[in-house]
Amino acid sequence: MDAVLPSVVPQPVAARLTRAAIFLVVTLEPGDDAERAVRKLCADLSGLLRAVGFRDLEGGLSCVLGIGSDAWERLFGAPRPKGLHPFREIRGRHHAVATPGDLLFHIRATRMDLCFELASQVMSRLSGFVTTQDEVHGFSYFDDRDLIGFVDGTENPVDAAAVAATIIGAEDPDFAGGSYVIVQKYLHDLVAWNRVPVADQERIIGREKLSDIELDDAAKPSYAHNVLTSIEENGEPLEILRDNMPFGDIGKGEFGTYFIGYARSPDRIERMLENMFIGLPPGNYDRLLDFSRAVTGSLFFVPSASFLDAVAPDAAPAPAPAPPLAAEEPSQPSAPRGDGSLGIGSLRKGASHE
Ligand code: HEM
Repeated sequence: MDAVLPSVVPQPVAARLTRAAIFLVVTLEPGDDAERAVRKLCADLSGLLRAVGFRDLEGGLSCVLGIGSDAWERLFGAPRPKGLHPFREIRGRHHAVATPGDLLFHIRATRMDLCFELASQVMSRLSGFVTTQDEVHGFSYFDDRDLIGFVDGTENPVDAAAVAATIIGAEDPDFAGGSYVIVQKYLHDLVAWNRVPVADQERIIGREKLSDIELDDAAKPSYAHNVLTSIEENGEPLEILRDNMPFGDIGKGEFGTYFIGYARSPDRIERMLENMFIGLPPGNYDRLLDFSRAVTGSLFFVPSASFLDAVAPDAAPAPAPAPPLAAEEPSQPSAPRGDGSLGIGSLRKGASHE
């Protein structure tokens, strides 16, 4: 597998599914101070995580930080991860909206108090420099079901397959060890959904509701969720890693699924979304969307943990790269360096802009 170069440590993208999670999406205020505060947080994040997580090692606390396209420009400039762009809305039979998001914090643990404490610590560092666009506290619901009653996450790749599906390798050597993530917050019309006979619900999802067993191919309609989201390239399946979580506010009648999908390239998640919202062929769309409305949508790049550790708070974006001088050594940004960083010039601690 060509996934990760030896010296680069990814963020815990492929961490095991947990019982609790917080999804925080924020936008940066204008100005250098906000950028400095975020860069400082990037470098301090692993320390914060260690401090909070050490209070209950069994709690499995983890945090993934994602950075949106505009924020990347402001924080780091060039070079850019190859696949990073703003989330593209899709207008098909249903609408996949694009909503603002500069930073995503995906915080997971077996206990909500650990997630809550880390989120509080992160936000106190960013106080005055960011606006919270969306905050969702997700919980695990019985045997990993979503609120529409189906087990969610069964076909996720695990272990090495999860890493191969999510972690960038030689295809973008400057950003090896990174990943991409798309989040969408869905609200369900549970009254309408629960009126649908279970056998029809099962055809919409492509699995049996109680047992979670996959329907036979012959019994699955072409619009089944698991048909439209199973995609291939050159005969090989293109997988993503999902860690969807139920959330809700009973008083407001809000019942939702927070969709989060990681992949080593955003294209594969975007293809799945097109199949769901436009249909394959167009018009043969995902019937789950007749009952589930996407109210947010954002795309982020997830740099490696090594990259975050090496961020210098005062390193503003580097200017556009100049053509190499003939006598210059060929640059090998992904090669292991003595300081353990990815060697991305302007981001090394204490490095000046080149
Ligand atoms: C309302 C939002 C959603 C709900 C409630 C939902 C629920 C489910 C359920 C119950 C399954 C079957 C069990 C499993 O394998 O996990 C499933 C499978 C899957 N979903 Fe979703 N999903 C949602 C949105 C999405 C989106 C937006 C994508 C991708 C862009 C996606 C991609 C997938 C994939 C790749 C599978 C596995 C297909 C297979 O290989 O069998 N889902 N989803």
